[in-house]
Amino acid sequence: MELPKTGTVEVVPSVLSADFARLADEIAQIEAADVKMVHLDVMDGHFVPNITIGPVVISKLRKYSKLFFDSHLMISQPAEYAEKFVEAGVNHITFHVEAEEKPLELIDKLHGLGVTAGICLNPETPVEAIKDVAPHCDMVLVMTVRPGFGAQQFMAEAAKKVIKVREIVGPDIRVEVDGGIDPETTPIVVGYGADTLVAGNAVFAQTDRLAAIEAIRQSCR
Ligand code: DX5
Ligand code: ZN
Repeated sequence: MELPKTGTVEVVPSVLSADFARLADEIAQIEAADVKMVHLDVMDGHFVPNITIGPVVISKLRKYSKLFFDSHLMISQPAEYAEKFVEAGVNHITFHVEAEEKPLELIDKLHGLGVTAGICLNPETPVEAIKDVAPHCDMVLVMTVRPGFGAQQFMAEAAKKVIKVREIVGPDIRVEVDGGIDPETTPIVVGYGADTLVAGNAVFAQTDRLAAIEAIRQSCR
C-alpha cells in the first residue's frame, strides 16, 4: 500500500462523518467507489476540543480494509505516539506543525518506521511555518476549517495558502486540503494546486456515497 504518485486528483473520504459504530462497513462502501485512501481523524481532546479514535480502533479496522490509511493526528506530542499508530497499521501520518517543535526529526522518524509523512497547518498558521519542512514530506495538508469537527464552513482565505504550498513543494509532493470540501469548493482548491481532497460531510453524510464521491470527482474535470 503506497501513497498514490502525484498526477491524479484523489478523493479521500474522512470517516469523521461516518457511523463510528459501523466503521468497517462504512469503509467497505467507499472501497467499492474505487477510492485509494481513507482519512482517519485522530483527536485527543487537548490539541483540539474533541476526541475520536486511536490506535486500538485503527488496528481493528486494518483487518477489514485494503485502503491506504491516511491518518491525521490532531494531537499534542505526536512523536510520542508515532510507533503506536504505525503498529496499528496506518500507512501515512500527518501531524500538525503547531504541535511539534522538531518537525524534521519526526518526519525522519516516520520514514524510518516505514510510513509516509505529512505536515499540516491550521487556518491561522502562515505557510512560512512549514516552508523548510514541506519539501521533506510526502504530502502537505492545508486545513480549510479549524480542526476538531466535521461539516464546518469552508474557509476561502485559508484555501489560498495552497497556491504558496504548491510553489514550495513542486509537482511531486501531494497537497491535501481538509475541511468543507464538496463539489462547489473542489474546483477552487484544485485550481490552486491541491490534488488530494479530504471530504467528510460531502461523502459520509450522504445516503449514496458512491454518487457523492463521483460528484466531487466530476466537479473538477
Ligand atoms: C476536521 C477533520 C476533517 C473533517 C472534515 O478537523 O480534520 O478531516 O472530517 O470534515 P468535512 O469534510 O465535513 O468538512
Ligand atoms: Zn482531517
